[in-house]
Amino acid sequence: MTERGSIWVLNGPNLNLLGEREPGIYGGDSLADIEVRCAEAAQTTGFALDFRQSNHEGELVAWIQEARSSATGLAINAGAYTHTSVAVHDALRLLDIPIVEVHLSNIFAREEFRHKSYISAAATGVVCGFGSHSYVLAIYALAARMDL
Ligand code: DQA
Repeated sequence: MTERGSIWVLNGPNLNLLGEREPGIYGGDSLADIEVRCAEAAQTTGFALDFRQSNHEGELVAWIQEARSSATGLAINAGAYTHTSVAVHDALRLLDIPIVEVHLSNIFAREEFRHKSYISAAATGVVCGFGSHSYVLAIYALAARMDL
């Protein structure tokens, strides 16, 4: 199948330790496991996949800027930067492609400081609470959005 473009999946701080990190909240899948599931979903929907993780806010901002010219859709789990980063928010607002905010956990059912997201206002939509399946749903949502 000819690729319809490239879906980028960006991951923020501490997500490199998924599988070891609070598995009762985030599940047992590693980030590598999630990347495999994303690759399958991207292939099924006809997109290439670019999957990255950084613990550094500035690197995430640089990647979002890079996505302006290379991505056709973006899914982002900004980790804790979700709740703090005006810089990530501002970078996302530079994009004119569909953006899905992703979280493994249901941030609205957790501590109050997680209820505020700087990503949501810059996103097309939000998927949270479905564990690693949130990522798969985000890719299908991006693909559906690009069919509109
Ligand atoms: C998270 C939720 C955030 O509150 C937290 O800081 C994370 C992971 C999630 O995927 O559920 O690092 O984004």
